[in-house]
Amino acid sequence: MEWDAKKYNTTHDFIFKYGAGLLELLPKEPKKVLDIGCGTGELTNQMAELGHVVTGIDQSVNMINQAKESYPDLTFLQEDILNLSDQIGLYDIAFSNAVFHWISDQELLLKNISEHLNPNGQLICEFGAVGNVQAIREAFGRELRMLGVSFEEPFCFTSVEDYRVLLEKNHFEVVEILEYERPTPLKGGESGLRAWMEQFYAAELGELTDDQKEKLLANMERDLKPKLWKEDHWEADYRRLRINAVKL
Ligand code: BEZ
Repeated sequence: MEWDAKKYNTTHDFIFKYGAGLLELLPKEPKKVLDIGCGTGELTNQMAELGHVVTGIDQSVNMINQAKESYPDLTFLQEDILNLSDQIGLYDIAFSNAVFHWISDQELLLKNISEHLNPNGQLICEFGAVGNVQAIREAFGRELRMLGVSFEEPFCFTSVEDYRVLLEKNHFEVVEILEYERPTPLKGGESGLRAWMEQFYAAELGELTDDQKEKLLANMERDLKPKLWKEDHWEADYRRLRINAVKL
């Protein structure tokens, strides 16, 4: 999926605003940090302001261009964490917010992170937990099935138990791992759910005719309203997994 960097920065800015809480897990003294899936660079910049030496990587060229434009003094590289180039080097901390659930090969992800961490290097990350945006995903799947369209979910939303096993298998010691509900208000009032769907399910919606898409979104709004509409905005049923682990 190619990201719309401008919308990410405005309509969907909750992505990095919520990520700010993760920064509290960073050590106080300056560290060399790799920000994996840095998007438009807001959290990368906040870490630099805290005194860390940060390299932001993202596989999206739109995101990297926007990040470089916003923060010209910082280092941003277009890189795929599953296929890193030789220029990446070693870090004290691998940091990532709202990215790992897009990655299907979690073993390779953790192996590559471990290879680019110094001894005792730290992994600090947060991403979707099991049951993340469940109501939205179920409603979307139901609508697509009614149109006869198959729906393969690209996401890896995992649990504390399963991810702990994976971390330990890949030679990380878990300092903290927790799963929590994070109901997330969407911007845009009545059209907030549509805007969210259009950002994150652009590829699937792009396969439909205008009529099909309009009907699908209207049906989703009708079905989800009792659960996710809160007086004047939509609230997505996010669940998060937060991890602080050390490379052994
Ligand atoms: C998330 O950040 O949790 C998310 C992103 C896209 C689709 C679903 C969930």
